[in-house]
Amino acid sequence: MVGKCILVVDDNPASRVFLVNHLKGKQFTVSEAPTGKDGLIIAWRDQPDLVLFDPTLRDIPDQEFISKLRNDPRTSRTPLVALSTDASPARRERCLNAGVNGYLVKATGAVLALEETLARIFTAEPPALRPIKVEEPEAEEPKVEETKGEGKNGSLIVFLSAKGGTGTSSLCANLAMNIQQAQPEARVVVADLVLPIGSIGQIVGAEGKINLVTVSDLPPGQTNVDYFYRNLPKPQTWQFQLLAGSPDPQQANSIKGERIGQIVDTLRSGYDIVILDIGRALSRISLPLIQKADLILLVVSTDQGTVQLTKTVWDYLQTQGIESQKICAILNRAVGLEGVTKAQAEEIIGLPIKTTLPYMGGNFALANNLNQPITIKYPTDTASIIFKETAADMVKRVRSLRDQSIT
Ligand SMILES: Nc1ncnc2c1ncn2[C@@H]1O[C@H](COP(=O)(O)OP(=O)(O)O)[C@@H](O)[C@H]1O
Ligand SMILES: [Mg+2]
Repeated sequence: MVGKCILVVDDNPASRVFLVNHLKGKQFTVSEAPTGKDGLIIAWRDQPDLVLFDPTLRDIPDQEFISKLRNDPRTSRTPLVALSTDASPARRERCLNAGVNGYLVKATGAVLALEETLARIFTAEPPALRPIKVEEPEAEEPKVEETKGEGKNGSLIVFLSAKGGTGTSSLCANLAMNIQQAQPEARVVVADLVLPIGSIGQIVGAEGKINLVTVSDLPPGQTNVDYFYRNLPKPQTWQFQLLAGSPDPQQANSIKGERIGQIVDTLRSGYDIVILDIGRALSRISLPLIQKADLILLVVSTDQGTVQLTKTVWDYLQTQGIESQKICAILNRAVGLEGVTKAQAEEIIGLPIKTTLPYMGGNFALANNLNQPITIKYPTDTASIIFKETAADMVKRVRSLRDQSIT
């Protein structure tokens, strides 16, 4: 980190001087610009390792400043961190949508948050592969009042993408954790239906003996709600219960398709919220689940190919009677700093994008490999704030969509 070059762009002299001195004190090489225009010129000329800027620049609108840097090959991959006078979610969203890597607000604790963010960006090492922890489901005695759960009609949320590698499974696990955390009293279960290999078990660090294949091998009478309450692992810190996916393609071949629908129905009868990772699999098995879903989380990465494919998927889903109000599209910069903006993605796909998740470099995979939720490993990261807000919004949306369908 020492010696990394940071350009500070801030038209408030006091704030700029403070930041420059503070960063110099931390052994960074620092340059500064008093206006947005100067900032662009210096960024393109010197190509610093990171641009730290206050997006409330008087001479250039925030979005334009960010796009200009993102669209120029000299700075298209430079980490951009906003340290803003403006705490409004509207500006934060706008900056994230345009492609910043972090949005911090000038308030108490900002200096610490800034240091953490810089450390994360500069030390994002390529993650080492760690062995998967094998966590047996706790053979704890069931709590008496909880064994009679059948009869619920839990909300169904499915996670879907048009292509692999867009962050579907990571978002599924992390948003599920935030949903459970926001509603500790609710029973939340995540089921990994991605074939031929599921990955949520790896992300949360729980690969027990029970998975989609073993469950679908059991007679339906045996896999009742009670069975899931007692046997599904509840991985540490993630808080929800997990029905892990198929461990390998060989075993995936033996899954009986009709069992999956039954299993999901059983889960809904015992859990308040059932969250499915369907991945990119649009199939005879997954389509009925998507049609039944209360909310469809469509994960879109920012590369042209995925955005185009997402349009194809969305066009198809419309022919299958899926309504746009049930879709919550999230733009995830899983592939790096370049790529389409939110406006471009909306234009191509023909759906509103709910929010944009910034590119987190190796940190995202690192948290995954450590089996930790992003909100716990990097609590001050912009992504953590977005996970919390998106989870809260999902819960609200599910409720209101359900209310509508009842009346
Ligand atoms: N916003 C992001 N920033 C950085 N890396 C990301 C981001 N989102 C996802 N990734 C990484 O992309 C890879 C694919 O994610 P994964 O959740 O397995 O995608 P999918 O389920 O769609 O195949 C993982 O290594 C993950 O850590
Ligand atoms: Mg996946």
